[in-house]
Amino acid sequence: MWLSLILEAFILILAWDFYRRHRRSAILLRSKISGPLSLLVLGNSLQASALRSENYIEYFSNTFNKYGNTFRHWILGECLIYTKDVKLFEAILSSSTLLQKAEVYRVMRDFLGDGLFLGSASKWASRRKVLAPAFHFKCLENFVEIMDRNSEIMVKKLRKVADGKTPVDLFNYVSLEALDVITETAMGVQMNAQTDPNCAYTKTLKSVVHIESDRLLSPSKRFNWLFPLAAPLVYWRLQRDIRLMHEFTSKIVRERRAILERSKADGSYQPLRLEDEKTGGKSKMALLNILLQVSIDNKPLTELDIREEVGGFIFAGDDTTTSAVSHALHVISRHPKVQKCVYEEILGVLGQDPNTPVTQSQLLDLKYLDCVIKETMRLYPPVPFLGRYIPKDLHVGDKTIPGNTNVILMPYYVYRDPEYFPDPLTFKPERWMNVKEASFPIHAYIPFSFGPKNCIGQKFAMLQMKTLISKVIRHYELLPLGEDLKATYTFVLSSSSGFNVGLRPKKF
Ligand code: HEM
Repeated sequence: MWLSLILEAFILILAWDFYRRHRRSAILLRSKISGPLSLLVLGNSLQASALRSENYIEYFSNTFNKYGNTFRHWILGECLIYTKDVKLFEAILSSSTLLQKAEVYRVMRDFLGDGLFLGSASKWASRRKVLAPAFHFKCLENFVEIMDRNSEIMVKKLRKVADGKTPVDLFNYVSLEALDVITETAMGVQMNAQTDPNCAYTKTLKSVVHIESDRLLSPSKRFNWLFPLAAPLVYWRLQRDIRLMHEFTSKIVRERRAILERSKADGSYQPLRLEDEKTGGKSKMALLNILLQVSIDNKPLTELDIREEVGGFIFAGDDTTTSAVSHALHVISRHPKVQKCVYEEILGVLGQDPNTPVTQSQLLDLKYLDCVIKETMRLYPPVPFLGRYIPKDLHVGDKTIPGNTNVILMPYYVYRDPEYFPDPLTFKPERWMNVKEASFPIHAYIPFSFGPKNCIGQKFAMLQMKTLISKVIRHYELLPLGEDLKATYTFVLSSSSGFNVGLRPKKF
């Protein structure tokens, strides 16, 4: 009897698996989208379980070589379509309806909730509108002061290890600096991650991001229902850390709201108005203060709404900027001619004294550095892959992407394709000097994504990267010391061997 029950259960599972996949499989077949051998029920879970942050990039490169520009994986009935087809990038990213992130990002839901980054389409549009003023050029001018002050702290810290002989892994320095900048600009609070090695907020945030990154690559931890069973201790630690992060942000939100209410009561309240020249007491323009003063449908944002947005900004802005700046400094150290050009431009625009603070307009004048950053993000895109959920059949050219699938766009491989970027593996900032004459379609280079859900913080990020890179190069000559990069991928591109450079202090 047991045998017959087991047999019946097995047949039911197979029937359920067939039913779930049948329609999508037929459409994929007609569109000539194939992929590695997929087992019954498990699909490609075994191949996916073997993926590690270290072999992710190579696995997808090999699989594209075998199956063409677009291929599929099945993971326990979930269909994932990986693509480096620029036509699909255009169709998906420019769409005003395909706004939902791929289901793999569900791992972040407990942490980021329904904020801009992951939120439902209906909430997203109104939130995006009220958040846009935080990136108005007047706010950015204030933020540059915060960026400059924190970059100064970082170059001072580097002095202890800058002997011109020993390789220094820049990752931690850059990461803490980026965290100090993003937390102060988002919440108006100085976290001092750079100077306080015991900063609880830093440790908790890093732990959350580390666990979530691991979940992204692990099929057994990726599904919310399976995660507590597959790794109960990690699950418990994550819940605890997320709670701590939420409590911290909520406390700041409450304090700021109380200050705002008091100022309204005593008559000293001044609403934020960007057109007002006087606007911009520095902490006034922190993102949090903007969020406290806006309303959607005549209702102010709740504590939860604000916490979600602040968390989203910190998550979206910290590791991405760290990845870009760390890669840029490493690559510059390996290209002395590029370094010379960057330094000459800096001297011309920012002057001889390395300690003079920078302004937004000076940073915008660093045109060659702009090309260096663009070229860095081509070879080492901080966000190498983007994912969208496709609810209904999507027709693009001769292909149909079946509804109820997740498409993972992989620009990393486009950036290294000679069809779009001649001599693709060579670092050539010059290729960005005359970009109007460039031969590639605009969707072939999208480090900040494209379309309605593009990066809201891209101008901020460019200013932050230029401030930090220029500050380091004003103080130090970068030397090609230490191990080279070994690409790893989690939410962002990183390097398992670190971001090694030698640092020789400049004489003035
Ligand atoms: C080099 C640095 C950065 C890079 C390469 C980058 C890249 C991106 C990309 C590719 C997306 C789209 C993701 C997707 O569609 O799946 C995105 C979204 C976003 N980014 Fe950035 N980002 C950077 C820095 C920042 C900074 C500094 C902030 C905040 C100050 C920020 C805030 C956001 C937010 C809130 C979103 C979600 C926007 C939406 O869905 O409407 N990013 N970013």
